[in-house]
Amino acid sequence: MNAPVNTAVNPIGIHDITFATGHHSFALETLAAKHGIDVGKFHKGIGQEVMSQPAADEDIVTMAATAAKRIIDRNGTDGIRTLLFATESGVDQSKSAGVYVHGLLGLPSRVRTIEMKQACYSGVGALQVALGIVARNPQEKVLVVASDVARYDLNSGGEPTQGAAAAAFLVQANPGILAVEPASGVYTYDVQDFWRPNDRHTALVDGKLSIDAYLNAVRGAYDDFIDHGGADFAAIDRFCYHQPFTKMAVKAHMALREHVGLSADKAETAAELETTMHYNRMIGNSYTASVFLALMSLLETESDNLVGKRVGILSYGSGAVAEFFTGTIVDGYQKLLHADEHKKALDSREPLTYDAYRDLHPGTRVADITDYDTPEVTDAPFRFAGVKDHSRIYQRR
Ligand code: COA
Repeated sequence: MNAPVNTAVNPIGIHDITFATGHHSFALETLAAKHGIDVGKFHKGIGQEVMSQPAADEDIVTMAATAAKRIIDRNGTDGIRTLLFATESGVDQSKSAGVYVHGLLGLPSRVRTIEMKQACYSGVGALQVALGIVARNPQEKVLVVASDVARYDLNSGGEPTQGAAAAAFLVQANPGILAVEPASGVYTYDVQDFWRPNDRHTALVDGKLSIDAYLNAVRGAYDDFIDHGGADFAAIDRFCYHQPFTKMAVKAHMALREHVGLSADKAETAAELETTMHYNRMIGNSYTASVFLALMSLLETESDNLVGKRVGILSYGSGAVAEFFTGTIVDGYQKLLHADEHKKALDSREPLTYDAYRDLHPGTRVADITDYDTPEVTDAPFRFAGVKDHSRIYQRR
């Protein structure tokens, strides 16, 4: 079955989308040199060049607020009645990180605010919840933020895939960027490929198992997508994958091509996905935000010719949940892009030395937290000032 492009009178989808990242960058060239690893393993083998790192006074909340502020500055708050915060590196076991963002942005109190969790998947989970809310009440808008700091143990296989970023976007009727089509394929199965117990700053991961689990989930979600009326593979013009490291997208697309009976040449597949990989290669893994960074990379790199094109989007969250869905690019999308701000966010990062990078890493175990202040480092609009009486303190700068 080949689903037609969604021509519903009131399409729903992403109206405006942007990201923020950490104050610092750390070059994988430095990590490779210090660890005696051929840098080709990072640059070519996993497809990563730089990782963003948050300053001591930044975290998932400050990055999310910075990204969301750009959406609010452009669109205002009219119609926003829901704020969904997707993350797998939450800062509290009870209070939603979204409530801090709500406060920092001065959003109206008549907003429901929730944090959502399922490893790297929950950003797309939040998008689907948002689509449902808007479908029921088309005059409403939903602000979604997906923000994460990806942390693995020092000297571990996952270390070069760390990173940090927040994506923020507005979901509404008659969107200006991506009209999401109704068909969606979902897939859940219980696998212990990546997880982070409450007493750890860093994730535990079985790297090889996580790659296999991701590939299984791609096939499973795609099959469910087809069974629910999704577009044929050949009718999808571009593919955006969750990118824990950019080479993973190539592996995933090769697996999907083979799954639908097509040949899968590695170099051709990498070239096909190239325009989706710029931000993730230069930022590192941003967990829930990663697939949206892939979308932004695509939109901004191919800013001439995407109108009407159908994009397939695949989200994978270890543990594991995956979803595959499509959307079509809306005429005039170029006017809503934030390419200049994104370039500035990447180019203005302050590079870290190896020692400074190690000093910023929080270590493995979560220690008892007593009151502390953070140094003033970030030049973002919001900062994390420290902990007082077990409460996290955030400030507008
Ligand atoms: N030049 C070019 N490529 C090189 C190389 C070199 N000098 N040295 C190694 N490579 C290639 C390998 O051939 C391999 O490519 P392939 O996957 O196409 O076979 C790739 O680099 C990675 O090498 P590998 O030895 O498998 O790396 P690793 O054992 O350090 O593990 C991960 C890689 C991704 C498993 C590890 O970084 C990890 O655990 N990451 C976190 C979990 C994750 O992101 N999972 C993804 C699904 S969610």
